[in-house]
Amino acid sequence: MSYQKIRKAVFPAAGLGTRFLPATKAIPKEMLCLVDKPLIQYGVEEAVAAGCTEIIIVTGRDKAAMEDHFDYSPELEAALEAKGKQALLDVVHSVSKLARIVYTRQPHPLGLGHAVLMAKEIVGDEPFCVLLPDDIVDAKVPCMKQMVEAFYETQSSILASEVVEGDAISAYGVLDCTPVANNPRLLDVKGMVEKPKFEEAPSQNAIIGRYILTPRIFEMIEAVKPGAGGELQLTDAIKMLLQHEKVYGFHYEGKRHDAGDKLGFLKATVELALKREDLGPGFRDWLKEFPI
Ligand code: G1P
Repeated sequence: MSYQKIRKAVFPAAGLGTRFLPATKAIPKEMLCLVDKPLIQYGVEEAVAAGCTEIIIVTGRDKAAMEDHFDYSPELEAALEAKGKQALLDVVHSVSKLARIVYTRQPHPLGLGHAVLMAKEIVGDEPFCVLLPDDIVDAKVPCMKQMVEAFYETQSSILASEVVEGDAISAYGVLDCTPVANNPRLLDVKGMVEKPKFEEAPSQNAIIGRYILTPRIFEMIEAVKPGAGGELQLTDAIKMLLQHEKVYGFHYEGKRHDAGDKLGFLKATVELALKREDLGPGFRDWLKEFPI
């Protein structure tokens, strides 16, 4: 079976953001800003760079700031125009022109699998990307673009994975997998466990927040029972998908930051700021003098 082009990307963004309180009391965590861009925009830009033209954001209560961010801002644009601030006007315009964005709501926080299920009708019968906005992947070739290319070769669901050492593995979905003989980036997935204890983890290959899934996943999500944390887990649905289709793990090229975690967010801020042409040199000079 050969699938058509990947056009759609789903962003589960209904979470309460409890890891980042108090910042996320009134601000969606997806709107926390890394340097000068909200987390969700990094993900949307990555999906667009991978060829996606339709972005589906699964939101919940108090998430309107995201919708405003990607919308046109007539008052702001008029004010910038009146002042002749063309460069800023271009920045503001480019955000609202990124892609067609549709929103759907997850009424109750019943888990990642449930959040993805909310996009079922909008995605329809085609393979699609899932990006978790907390995970920022800094890469020469955007991570999702690397994965879309791998999907066109494998025609199978693909889960981005990174090696996680020690106890930290318990925070992830973990793959039971073997390397694919002639492709060092691909892993042949045999099973997976959501948030296993360290002693029970089937490997060190953690799933990170980038997936390409075939549409059959929706049927699987509808069939799974609540798993880890009493939630409908995407990991459990993908495990069930394995009974019908091949699934691959993918060691992408790049560096991932867990920006949903306070320390991870700080590290991402420093690394991304240092790479910026406009801010990097000044920031580096200041850091060198900073008494650590
Ligand atoms: C989710 C997934 C988990 C995955 C992780 C990556 O967990 O359930 O399988 O490893 O994202 O960030 P969460 O971090 O939402 O608890």
